[in-house]
Amino acid sequence: MLRISVLVSGGGTNLQAVIDGVEGGEIPCARIVRIIASNSRAYSLERAKKHGIPAAVIGKENYPDPEARAREILRELDSAQTDLVVLAGYMSILSPDIIRAYEGRIINIHPSLIPKYCGMGFYGKRVHEAVLAGGEKESGATVHYVDEGVDSGPIILQGRVPVLAEDTADTLAARVLETEHRILVQSIRYLAEKKMENER
Ligand code: GAR
Repeated sequence: MLRISVLVSGGGTNLQAVIDGVEGGEIPCARIVRIIASNSRAYSLERAKKHGIPAAVIGKENYPDPEARAREILRELDSAQTDLVVLAGYMSILSPDIIRAYEGRIINIHPSLIPKYCGMGFYGKRVHEAVLAGGEKESGATVHYVDEGVDSGPIILQGRVPVLAEDTADTLAARVLETEHRILVQSIRYLAEKKMENER
C-alpha cells in the first residue's frame, strides 16, 4: 500500500485526478492519507472534505515563521506515515529539511516541458504566457522528482500538446491541464506498482 500525501495551494484539479485514480482503481494499492493546503482558501479543502480525506492548512497565515512551518509540514507527513509526497499545484518552495527527509519520495507536476519554462518565477498562468511569448509550437507538462533546486529533479513522465495560433494563456492552460491529470495519475500508478513489486 502506497500512502500518499498531497500538497496543494489552489483549485486542486490535479488532486481530484489523483483522488479519482485511487478511488477508481487506476492507481492500485494506494491511499491518500493527508492533504496539506498552503492556505485556507484553497478549494482543494472542499475536495478533501467531500472524499473524507484528512486535511490540514499549513501556510504563512498560521505559521509565519518558515522553520516552524516546515516542522509542522514534516510532522503531518510523518504522522500520516507518508510514503509519497505529491506536489499538485503547490505554489510554495519546500524547505530543504523536508526534501532531505523525503528524498526520492517527493514528486511535482509542472505545466511545461522541462527544461523549458521552469524554475524560479515560472508557475501557473505565467508559464503559459511565456510559452506563447516564446512562439512555441508545442508545450506540455512534466512530472519529476523534487530535489533541492526549483523544477530540477529527474523526470518521470512528460506529456505534449500542440500550441494553436489562436491560443490564449487560458486555452493553452486548459489543454495542458488535461495532460497533467493523465501523466500525474500514470506516474503515481507506476510508483505504486514499483512499491508492490518491491514488497513481493
Ligand atoms: C497546475 O497547472 C500545476 O501544474 C501548476 O499549477 C496548476 C494547479 O492546478 N503548478 C505549478 O505551476 C507549480 N510550479 P490545480 O490546482 O487545478 O491542480
